[in-house]
Amino acid sequence: MANYEDIFKKVVAHAKEYGFVFQSSEVYDGLGAVYDYGPYGSELKNNIRTYWWKSMVNMNENIVGIDAAIFMHPTTWKASGHVDAFNDPLIDNKDSKKRYRADVLIEDHTAKIENKIEKEVKKAAKRFGNSFNQEQFINTNPRVLGYKEKISAIMARFSKAMENDDLADIKTQIEELGIVCPVSGTKNWTNVRQFNLMFKTQMGSTADGANDLYLRPETAQGIFVNFLNVQKTARMKIPFGIAQTGKAFRNEIVARQFIFRMREFEQMEMQFFVRPGEEIQWYEHWKDARIKWHHSLGMGEENYRFHDHENLAHYANAACDIEFKFPFGFKELEGIHSRTDFDLKSHQEHAGRKLQYFDPEINESYVPYVVETSIGLDRMFLTILSHAYNEEKVNGDTRLVLNIPAMLAPVKAAVLPLTKKDNMPEKAREILKELQCDFNCQYEEKDSIGKRYRRQDAIGTPFCITVDHQTLEDNTVTVRDRDTMEQSRVSIDKLHSIISKKVDIKNYLQ
Ligand code: GAP
Repeated sequence: MANYEDIFKKVVAHAKEYGFVFQSSEVYDGLGAVYDYGPYGSELKNNIRTYWWKSMVNMNENIVGIDAAIFMHPTTWKASGHVDAFNDPLIDNKDSKKRYRADVLIEDHTAKIENKIEKEVKKAAKRFGNSFNQEQFINTNPRVLGYKEKISAIMARFSKAMENDDLADIKTQIEELGIVCPVSGTKNWTNVRQFNLMFKTQMGSTADGANDLYLRPETAQGIFVNFLNVQKTARMKIPFGIAQTGKAFRNEIVARQFIFRMREFEQMEMQFFVRPGEEIQWYEHWKDARIKWHHSLGMGEENYRFHDHENLAHYANAACDIEFKFPFGFKELEGIHSRTDFDLKSHQEHAGRKLQYFDPEINESYVPYVVETSIGLDRMFLTILSHAYNEEKVNGDTRLVLNIPAMLAPVKAAVLPLTKKDNMPEKAREILKELQCDFNCQYEEKDSIGKRYRRQDAIGTPFCITVDHQTLEDNTVTVRDRDTMEQSRVSIDKLHSIISKKVDIKNYLQ
């Protein structure tokens, strides 16, 4: 595990050093689990958002986008169930005075058992060499099966306790599993309590008449309450979807692992409205479409897996997560939920207004069922950054490179005059001007060309374009590829199409 932790620490340090992510209000020693995106980070984040938006909204005839406000009428959160049930079970260690989420303590415990499985697999792979069949081994090896059973039993008991609001049993389970506080090392735990995760604020004057509001904990409700507005004005026919991206806020008890769990974060959500009875078929459709979207980025299919929810929330009739292998293990990246008609029906009741659709094909009005896809933009950012981070040995040196998918790279090309003399800077700026309308490009003339290449590698720039003496004679430049480090000489008028080909969204979405 130490190795993974080391890599993760390096990724976090790299994100700061190269202007991807800073701690919020760092001059005041920071604010817990709130982060700011720097020059390269904000570009990368925009590019991820655009990729999601294009593939979900622009490339689907039956999906449209909205941009709802963060503030919503307070009854929204009563109707959605968040006022009563958006809680995390928390527990304190009496010796260290540290607070933990009970579910996270249990999850960390099962992750340790999963590590044991991984170790068994690695050992066996080494022993059996080429003849090793991993799937067969995992499904038949008694030790692995034992570990898997242990994990299932732990999760089943925990889910049951959560479902029955049996907080006492959660505490007993933590004690029986021998879970100790990572800080004090003791098992001296308080009782488990429920803690609501919504941030409260006020609208209007603070004297009488001020309304208690919440910062939205999910963007989805802005879509539900606008369902009829959108359906009517955009003349949508079921099945159709409404998508949006935007900030969400949760007062997370345990905010750890950098931007994995934040108190202010961004979601990219889509609610797909369907005929009752057809939701499971659409749920399967969106599971398939979303995993393909992730695979399209070429970050290794083996790094993703589905995790079906064993105990469903009261409003869901199917739900799963897409998990990604972060440096700290497989964790939730995206949720896909079949939410039935729970939200629309509940808003209908609380608002006293009909939220129904008249289906001309079957001549019937009904409250549609909803399948939702919900992904955290910051979490997606972390998958890209942690997967892209590579330390390569080159001629006895270490090259630090971010192999970010070219389409998402913050800077697509750097234009570099070999020296500051002989009209090279002017020529380089001419090239920059030609390209910067379509691609985010950078001009750099400081330091040796080798150092400049390395700096661009470290922020993941796919192309370095160098202007040299020959450029001034025949209008050609060298183009260096970030991944192969190969250089080729090309005519300046080919640059646009070379970059375009590499960063084109069509390369990714077939
Ligand atoms: N509307 C459904 C919903 O909000 P969720 O599973 O609570 O479902 C969806 O959240 C996604 O939002 C998660 O899969 C994760 O990517 C992201 N997310 C949730 N809480 C987060 C947090 N505290 N920090 C960063 N991302 C978070």
